[in-house]
Amino acid sequence: MTAQTTLFEAYKQTKYKHTGHGPRNVNVLKTVMDEIDGERLSDMYGNGRTINPFEEKMAEFLGKEAAVFFPSGTMAQQIALRIWADEKGTKKIGYHPLSHLEIHEENGIRELHGLEPVLLTDRNHVVELEDITKLEENPACILLELPQREIGGQLPSYQTLEQISAYCREQGIKLHLDGARLLEILPFYQKTAAEVSALFDSVYLSFYKGIGGIAGAILAGDKDLISQSKVWKRRHGGDLISLYPYTLSADYYFEQRKDQMALYYEQAKTLASFYNECPDILTVPREPVSNMFHVHVNAKRDVLEPILIDIYEETDLGLTGFLGDTADGTLYFEVNVGDAYANVPQITVEKAFQLLREKLQKMYVKGV
Ligand SMILES: Cc1ncc(COP(=O)(O)O)c(C=O)c1O
Repeated sequence: MTAQTTLFEAYKQTKYKHTGHGPRNVNVLKTVMDEIDGERLSDMYGNGRTINPFEEKMAEFLGKEAAVFFPSGTMAQQIALRIWADEKGTKKIGYHPLSHLEIHEENGIRELHGLEPVLLTDRNHVVELEDITKLEENPACILLELPQREIGGQLPSYQTLEQISAYCREQGIKLHLDGARLLEILPFYQKTAAEVSALFDSVYLSFYKGIGGIAGAILAGDKDLISQSKVWKRRHGGDLISLYPYTLSADYYFEQRKDQMALYYEQAKTLASFYNECPDILTVPREPVSNMFHVHVNAKRDVLEPILIDIYEETDLGLTGFLGDTADGTLYFEVNVGDAYANVPQITVEKAFQLLREKLQKMYVKGV
């Protein structure tokens, strides 16, 4: 490779990755479709054999009365919050300042629904009970994102969740779970999806994060919420005539990976410990509480990128294709452990981390 090889190109060319489930290519769908009878009828506008039984299965899995499949979590969650706000007659909703709704949805919650989000805590902490009890005005709904992705997938304690749930019920505040990565946190809490969901009035789960499908989301709750959310889904153009590529792949990968989360979690803890043995590296959280964590490196971009590229070339293991900037001037990247990690030979992992330790040590000694 040339001196101009970018981190992303070098990463793409590596044979092994320690993050994800493998390439997001068309094979993700082909693998599913190869097993399906081609004569099977498609769903039609939210009805049919390829969608409704799956919705019922997910409702049961989440311990809720009903569930509806959405093409995206963005649509599902804005709709859930809108319904809770209309029901209570207040526009206030509360969530973390780094919630997906706040930073990745182009203000849909304000622009489309006229809601008024209240940011519950500062960027680096998870939402705690006091962040809710100290609010001057009761919001219609509090959204908790578990795990809190933008801060490395941190979690409040289970006791805190129980306290928040009890407080919200007492105060007539609906509690919504942004459970995009709900399955990924169950091994840490040692709870079932239904047990966690029981603390919430509405729950969203994504099918393309740890589950690794193509796209799609489920929203679960009581029958009234779900029947209202179907109306809103239609209003949003979310009732595609056919959603079967999404529902079939969601179901397939849900079955394939729902019981793998404890393994990913253990692997994430091991990987994080390898990173934490390197000088100038700290993972957030220090010990992961799911399959994900962030790696913070106290180094300059023009020093770290060539180090990583060298490691990729020497070992064929890609650690990341992207380095973000943190507010405190360090660099960071995200690790999400999935199926890909099991394919990396142990000797390759050891070699990559040995090189990373040595190269960072040299950088540290030189003081660059
Ligand atoms: C925590 C969280 N919530 C919601 C979403 C939205 O999901 P979708 O991409 O299906 O709209 C995402 C997507 O990355 C997410 O990470």
